[in-house]
Amino acid sequence: MLTSLRMNRSLVLKIVKSFSARFEETPLIVQSPGRINIIGEHTDYNDGFVLPAAINKYIVAALSRNTSDRCSVYSIDMDDHYEFDLENLEAIAEVSWKNYVIGVVAELIKKGLKIEPFNLVFGGDIPNGAGLSSSAALENSVVFGLNKLFELQLSKFDMIRISQQAEHNYVGVKCGIMDQYASMFGSQDHALLLDCRSLHAEPIKVDLGENQIILINTNVSHTLAEAAYNDRRASCERVAKQLGISALRDASENKLNSIEHQLSASDFRKAKYVIQENDRVGRAAQFLKAGLIRELGSLLFEAHAGVRDLFEVSCKELDFLVDKASENPHVLGARMMGGGFGGCTINIVQSKYLEEFKEAISSSYMKAFGKPCSIYSVALVDGVNQIDPIVLK
Ligand code: GLA
Repeated sequence: MLTSLRMNRSLVLKIVKSFSARFEETPLIVQSPGRINIIGEHTDYNDGFVLPAAINKYIVAALSRNTSDRCSVYSIDMDDHYEFDLENLEAIAEVSWKNYVIGVVAELIKKGLKIEPFNLVFGGDIPNGAGLSSSAALENSVVFGLNKLFELQLSKFDMIRISQQAEHNYVGVKCGIMDQYASMFGSQDHALLLDCRSLHAEPIKVDLGENQIILINTNVSHTLAEAAYNDRRASCERVAKQLGISALRDASENKLNSIEHQLSASDFRKAKYVIQENDRVGRAAQFLKAGLIRELGSLLFEAHAGVRDLFEVSCKELDFLVDKASENPHVLGARMMGGGFGGCTINIVQSKYLEEFKEAISSSYMKAFGKPCSIYSVALVDGVNQIDPIVLK
């Protein structure tokens, strides 16, 4: 399918215009969404379950082949131009958007695929470090675009693996597969109940009745939390090894309790959280299907207590937002979303009281931290796609 029903038209036009100002070739245009996650945090790299959805916030990339011997890339949002040579694809030492691009190219080449010099201009409206997967959206836009441009015949599964490897090897985050999967395979108005072991997903219609989802960004960026993320993953893997299983998805709380004395208190807490969270995802999916939104909301609050007290990836700003939400009778559920240490909370709020809640939470956040939070409403959209320039006319 070439056209997409939903797109950020002005963003696409901005990218195309910037591309045309720099390069003569006609670009191929790719739109790659960010994601939310209803529930299931830090379960993906434990082979567990998650419930994410692609959202109408995007990275848009314009790409073409070029006739020089170098690749030329421009990030509109960073106003940063970078040229590189396909023979020399080292990761950049500092934290940089360039590693996402170089990483994808390098992983494609590692697979023996033939990439030639190309031009790329990209930009987006997914806030960075907000837990909305701007990184996965960027990686996916590059791999999807290069797959088309050089007719690499990769499946979407191949592409998300390459995006994930780029993040592991060039960015240094040993992430799971949730973000890349949701961005690539998203389905309009649906969340995906994804089994991160089999990579099979069941789309579930998100119909919250008289309620809606809103995201509240603490505006605390989690971009420096890579080490803590990798530590959490290492804890989970240590416990799985101790239990003699390949991943915590196969563990039960009873089994875990039986080896408690062999584990550090911290590893025990982390594993306990993962086992409980994995179980919550299954229940949450059932509640969503049955339209039991209050019950779903309670699981969100429970999940937040888990990441705060057991998995220890929350922060005071996230806890504040969830506490305030839980004191409000018109909020059915709230929790931090994504890797943690900053970024957004996801909230299920009665639509009738939405404006009132937004005002109250904005002013109490400002009072508590002396800086504003940001609030977003989102629509659930299809995954990565190519945009036919005809729809821009
Ligand atoms: C980040 C990672 C994902 C996942 C979440 C936590 O977004 O990229 O793979 O582990 O954190 O659920």
